[in-house]
Amino acid sequence: MTSPLNIPRIIGHRGAKATAPENTLAGIRQAKTEGASWVEFDVKLTSDGHAVLMHDETVERTTDGRGFVRQMTLAELRKLDAGVRFGPTWRGEKVPTLIEALALMAELDMGFNLEIKPCPGREAETARVALADVAAHWSAERPVPVISSFKPAALAAAREAAPHLPRGYLAETLPPDWAVRMAQFDCLTVHPCWRALTRAQIAAAKAGGHPVLVWTVNEPARARELVAWGVDSLITDCPALIAAALRQSRAASA
Ligand code: G3P
Ligand code: MG
Repeated sequence: MTSPLNIPRIIGHRGAKATAPENTLAGIRQAKTEGASWVEFDVKLTSDGHAVLMHDETVERTTDGRGFVRQMTLAELRKLDAGVRFGPTWRGEKVPTLIEALALMAELDMGFNLEIKPCPGREAETARVALADVAAHWSAERPVPVISSFKPAALAAAREAAPHLPRGYLAETLPPDWAVRMAQFDCLTVHPCWRALTRAQIAAAKAGGHPVLVWTVNEPARARELVAWGVDSLITDCPALIAAALRQSRAASA
């Protein structure tokens, strides 16, 4: 079951964050192994302007290095190990460039939700660089990606750089005027956190023609409930677990 954009029901979060180091090529491969056809990942810029997959402002949590991503060149970042903190068997994994991730997803025949996760002050620049990489390295024949962000300036720049690519409005909690805010940037999809999401908000989004992509859904019962409420896609750390949960509920209701 897919939305009109062919966004799948299950999207691996930061690759497959529960079972492989987040925002790495290994994580993208792991998501594919777990049956996910799309992944979500976070994109930031290095000090010398390269788009890389990275969630945090600093490298401490996910690599063996120290410091701010925005103060490191790509060459400096590439010396770090982005796997070993997750587990010794992942040692040697690098922080990937967006270009490398695009190549791998093309090879694996996957699609993606690119979250623009800018360092402060680099909102528009991050969107521009990321979308230039997508334009140069992602064929129009492949699945149309969704470009999302929490940051209004990033969404505005995304619209300017790639008006034809659907934009996703990200929110921890949907504000009362979420539909107005989405319309400001012509966002097609809405990406709320599941915690504060209500059934009425889902219904309103669907009535407005906006596919709903919810994060981060890691509990089978919650996944089943959200799908029953009309959510289109579940962004999850554990794609295999959530896919199995949805299969079970379909089998039970058949
Ligand atoms: O894009 C959904 C989700 O990734 C947003 O939160 O902090 O995991 O990037 P975060
Ligand atoms: Mg994210």
